[in-house]
Amino acid sequence: MPAPAGRARRVLAATTVAVMGTLAVGMAVAAPSSADAGPTLGQLAAAQGRYFGSATDNPTLDNAPYTAVLGSEFNQITVGNTQKWMYTEPNRGQFDYTQADKIVAFAQAHDQIVRGHTLVWHNQLPGWIDTVPAGELLGVMRDHVANVAGHYQGEVVHWDVVNEAFEEDGTRRQSVFQQKIGDSYIAEAFKAARAADPDAKLYYNDYNIEGIGAKSDAVYNLVKSFKQQGIPIDGVGLQAHLILGQVPSTLRQNIQRFADLGVDVAITELDIRMRTPRDATKDAQQAADYRTVTNACLAVARCVGITVWDFSDGYSWIPSVFPGEGAALIYDENFAKKPSYWAVHEALGGTTTTTTTTTTGNTGSGCTATYRVTGQWHGGYQAEVTVRNTGATATSGWTVRWTFAQGQTVRSLWNGVLTADGQEMTVRNAPYNGRITVDGTTAFGFIGAHTGTNDTPTVTCATA
Ligand code: G3I
Repeated sequence: MPAPAGRARRVLAATTVAVMGTLAVGMAVAAPSSADAGPTLGQLAAAQGRYFGSATDNPTLDNAPYTAVLGSEFNQITVGNTQKWMYTEPNRGQFDYTQADKIVAFAQAHDQIVRGHTLVWHNQLPGWIDTVPAGELLGVMRDHVANVAGHYQGEVVHWDVVNEAFEEDGTRRQSVFQQKIGDSYIAEAFKAARAADPDAKLYYNDYNIEGIGAKSDAVYNLVKSFKQQGIPIDGVGLQAHLILGQVPSTLRQNIQRFADLGVDVAITELDIRMRTPRDATKDAQQAADYRTVTNACLAVARCVGITVWDFSDGYSWIPSVFPGEGAALIYDENFAKKPSYWAVHEALGGTTTTTTTTTTGNTGSGCTATYRVTGQWHGGYQAEVTVRNTGATATSGWTVRWTFAQGQTVRSLWNGVLTADGQEMTVRNAPYNGRITVDGTTAFGFIGAHTGTNDTPTVTCATA
């Protein structure tokens, strides 16, 4: 079936349109409006020659607070569901782009580039696929790729041509395509996509290939053999559906090895899930994890961008698939920015940390304490205090004190026990971190609120 003529490619403009509606305010510690925050993630990423985007789905296009963020914060959008086969070819030979076109139009109206997702996948297929005789499926697959990629010619900058074709052990997933067409189906899909849209970058996309291992090795070998054979492939998408505290240690090395094969790499579906409910400790770990992922991408020139798999915890696939888990994204369910947002913002070069002065209060009592504001936003901040044992023997406990001068508060604190008496703060060690070896350190952190000025207080430290 011939593909329809493509439409004109939209070029990403340097600016993003700020369409801020009324944003509901959630947790007070992380609830600045986007308008307060200076550059957006999309703008910061663009300054680094990259994009920072979000997946989205059709039902949320009617939600004004949601689209206010979607349209202003990101410079890239991925069609989260409605470009999949069950939506685009619900009946054999009958194509329907009604839903996906709405998302592409939204992106174009907001100067956002579009990642197309996805042409060939074992999931979200129409039922009729199973009835196609083995001898006809290759032709059916080529027609589908030609038609969908042809429809969006010039409008989609990356296509996830084939999605999730490998098992964890690196063997081929026994999808209907694998079973009825055989190993060659992946190459055939890429060739059909190149023919339909010669300018789109063609990606292989998968999960659990962020670190080096059997599955990512299989993808690595696929890309290598495609390059050797001249089969068109331009990029690898690392989905990055990650778990709190478990960013693979080989992420950067893995991105680099794909880049060294001569393909681009994109982080395509980033989220970092936790057991719910959130708390300040988990939020801090999640912020660190988002920062690690962002830095890994920035460290490799061919890592072209990062996409979160939707941006708000209220619109994530995680809770329905992993009961008891969630809070995986960079905005909460009320569209308030989380510490993970600010970690990405800062990693991309944002200057949200307005106070980084350190003050050391040394009472001569065997320890020093260093207070550092690690992130600050309208009305809120995050700080870390490092306690160092300067004595001659290990400590059995410690106490850090300071007095706020500008009405700041501490809302939640981890790795220590807080006593607040008006503006006077006393933090004692938690049961597990009172012992510090000679010249060793420990740290506690907290999230707090301020009313506009947030000077670093003078801190004192004493050992028990
Ligand atoms: O559209 C129907 C709606 O009519 C019905 O009322 C409702 C009832 O459950 O279901 C709706 O369909 C759901 C669809 O998303 C659209 O919301 C499906 O049940 C649901 O299974 C489907 O989940 C999608 C999932 O892919 C399917 O595997 C998620 O939204 C989507 O975020 C997720 O995305 C995948 C990527 O494509 C590939 N990588 C993994 C990622 C997460 O699973």
